Amino acid sequence: MADYQSLYQLSLENPHQFWQEASQAIDWYEKPTKILDDSRPPFYRWFADGVLNTCYNALDRHVQQGRADQAALIYDSPVTNTVKTFSYRELLAMVADFAGALVAQGVQKGDRVIVYMPMVPEAVIAMLACARIGAIHSVVFGGFAARELATRINDACPKLIVSASCGLEGQRVIPYKPLLDDAIAQATHQPEKCIILQRPQLTADLIAGRDITWQEAVQGVTPAECVPVAATDPLYILYTSGTTGIPKGVVRDNGGHAVAMMWSMRYVYNMQPGEVYWAASDVGWVVGHSYIVYAPLLYGCTTILYEGKPVGTPDPGAFWRVIAQHQVNVLFTAPTAFRAIKKEDPQGSFLEKYNLPSFRTLFLAGERCDPDTLFWAQNLLKVPVIDHWWQTETGWAIAANCLGIEAKPVKAGSPTTPVPGFNVQCLDENGEEIKDDRIGSIMIKLPMPPGCLMTLWNNDERFVSSYLSAYEGYYLTGDAGYKDSENYLFIMSRIDDIINVAGHRLSTGGMEEVLASHPDVAECAVIGVADQLKGEIPLGMVVLKAGVQRSDAEIVKELVQMVRDKIGPVASFKVATVVKRLPKTRSGKILRGTMKKIAEGQTYRMPATIDDPTILDEIETSLEKLGYAAKATASS
Ligand code: COA
Ligand code: AMP
Repeated sequence: MADYQSLYQLSLENPHQFWQEASQAIDWYEKPTKILDDSRPPFYRWFADGVLNTCYNALDRHVQQGRADQAALIYDSPVTNTVKTFSYRELLAMVADFAGALVAQGVQKGDRVIVYMPMVPEAVIAMLACARIGAIHSVVFGGFAARELATRINDACPKLIVSASCGLEGQRVIPYKPLLDDAIAQATHQPEKCIILQRPQLTADLIAGRDITWQEAVQGVTPAECVPVAATDPLYILYTSGTTGIPKGVVRDNGGHAVAMMWSMRYVYNMQPGEVYWAASDVGWVVGHSYIVYAPLLYGCTTILYEGKPVGTPDPGAFWRVIAQHQVNVLFTAPTAFRAIKKEDPQGSFLEKYNLPSFRTLFLAGERCDPDTLFWAQNLLKVPVIDHWWQTETGWAIAANCLGIEAKPVKAGSPTTPVPGFNVQCLDENGEEIKDDRIGSIMIKLPMPPGCLMTLWNNDERFVSSYLSAYEGYYLTGDAGYKDSENYLFIMSRIDDIINVAGHRLSTGGMEEVLASHPDVAECAVIGVADQLKGEIPLGMVVLKAGVQRSDAEIVKELVQMVRDKIGPVASFKVATVVKRLPKTRSGKILRGTMKKIAEGQTYRMPATIDDPTILDEIETSLEKLGYAAKATASS
């Protein structure tokens, strides 16, 4: 086996050879002869003349090649008291049936299908069914509100939406159908049909002529065969927060994605086909797309679909129970899940009830892994704990300790070194590479490896302006950090207004748009403040219009409810305060960074361009009343 350095070198110097070899792990109807099409930079295409079907590679070939009776998917749902195993044969049959149902409803190759579902097997089945017929799925996370769903409906223009009557959040039943109906009412684009999974916990009302139940949809249908698609045809669109309230529709191809997923299972996660992989995330996020659904199945593993939380379903031993019961080899989750467990069970005593002989490695991503969480998990689990860094746009890890190549020493706070294929550089404001450990903008030199976003849905222009315009020939990750002398990366913060709440990526700009729409609000700012459990939480500050007489508390309550209604509970927007003025530069730019430092009790430098420094004292006083800004001091 080659060492990391030589594989990394090869991937950058001879990407054609590197990815041509990797592409052999996929079954193609027509093998690609063109590995990288670089004729139209900055748009690069992988395996451009290859023809394949992603669902065929994830299911059919395993059934044909000896895995028919192996567990493909284990649905473990403590919230419904269910554990159900689907073999590859069973999953294929259900996917082919549902694909047939989609065809019967008029869905064809290239049509979009929105999937707005909780963590139930039917969500995975719907995604794979779309892949089977060449339709493009767009999964929307259940924690988003109707308005967010409406925005995605208008952008993706789906022919059909697949949803469910409800989701289950701990003990609570969350009705999904009223949100769906509300979203469709708000949207200008109208889907022709909705297929609704009726769950036993709640029956949804259906709209005649538009809605049919999942159960009706699959009745008597002809199972659909796989439709060959070009490697460059889109497999899915996944919306992610941008710097405005309008999300970005990340477009993933079929060919590059399949190759990258397969490669990562072996070389990043050190998995063997037949083993059990568990990504404790949600199908609505990229982690769910890549590592609940596609990668484990493409690679012939068993994947776990967990409808529960790390704590409270029923206790902080839930993760250990799942690992023990299903003999999980690798767990992938976000550090926040471990902080939640640590908070409820600091000694890790729930682990004593379980034996985890199968458990080999814990992978963490979604937010920076703080050293405390790393050490706690290492000490408790006595297995390697691997932080790795990636984003919705890349679809897989940009930097990781690639255990399938060579295990490198772990450095707390670092996701280790760039993954082969990713030429990661840390650039200063002039676009020069920083060679020491000063913080800079983390960029990826083009072309990026297979599996990364092809463009933004229907918006090449925004793709170029958002990601490819900072420095020619580079992709802007939006993260800031540094590399040490051994090429280890340290990802420290964002350069934009994105915040990371419990591993969920959110735009403070989007929240500001909501606050600004309140009739009593003149201006506002939302900042991300450090939080022990969720990493960061949003905090809003609003200035009221002159003459408003209502109580601050009443207005704050309405603001919290508005963000919940318009963005969703996932934003965790619970803290806001009314202030007299917001600190600004002389050119009128709100000093959000300074307010963040004050809220977090850090020492902050008085901005040279500040218009009126006394406003910072007022802000400090307001934040102190909320329990923030304990030790904030201005340095000269
Ligand atoms: N459908 C509807 N509502 C949802 C939802 C869904 N799929 N997922 C979350 N929500 C709601 C929650 O009920 C909560 O609502 P509330 O304000 O009424 O309580 C809100 O959205 C925030 O949810 P969450 O961020 O999950 O916070 P939490 O306090 O319920 O749980 C953790 C905190 C740490 C336990 C939880 O975030 C977690 O398990 N994280 C694991 C990491 C993860 O999944 N990361 C994703 C990327 S890898
Ligand atoms: P998402 O697109 O939701 O996966 O969020 C991606 C963003 O989360 C990245 O751009 C980072 O800001 C942050 N992130 C994800 N993983 C890590 C990590 N391991 N270390 C630091 N930041 C991370």
